[in-house]
Amino acid sequence: MFVQEVRRYYPFTPFVGARVHKDFVWDQYEFKKGVLVLLDVYGMNHDPVIWGDPDKFRPERFQEEKDRTYCFIPQGGGDPAKGHRCPGEGITIEIMKAGLNFLVNKIDFVVPEQDLSYSLSRIPTLPKSGFIMNQIKKTGLE
Ligand code: HEM
Repeated sequence: MFVQEVRRYYPFTPFVGARVHKDFVWDQYEFKKGVLVLLDVYGMNHDPVIWGDPDKFRPERFQEEKDRTYCFIPQGGGDPAKGHRCPGEGITIEIMKAGLNFLVNKIDFVVPEQDLSYSLSRIPTLPKSGFIMNQIKKTGLE
């Protein structure tokens, strides 16, 4: 739940873009050939209609099991088998779980004052300072 909330709350990728190949209409929206279309990934993952209190970091919101194929889109929208949604999502989640376990259970560290702000117009989005850690000590058992 924590990893899912990190992927929702932070701009994993703020948007994805594509150029319209041929004219079409979808859901009453006209897409003209040649136009650059941006999918507002961050915006949808912070839509108050979908998430209630989107600016609160609240992992428990993922307690409820439900189909989020089209509303939770940190690595692109839809079904990866039929479209371009990231097929590496499962791997990413497992890597994040292992990283979180390491940070929480295997080491101790101090996070000094730094600039953790981030840009919403840059891909990949990273905190301005990176992520600085001091006084790192091993704590966990092997
Ligand atoms: C933090 C990690 C990752 C992020 C934020 C991320 C994000 C994305 C995004 C936004 C897309 C485009 C989706 C779209 O066009 O609708 C994408 C596509 C893709 N990703 Fe990832 N991804 C991540 C990790 C991975 C990993 C670990 C793999 C493979 C092991 C992977 C493989 C791919 C591939 C092959 C595509 C192209 C899919 C296609 O065009 O059909 N990604 N990813």
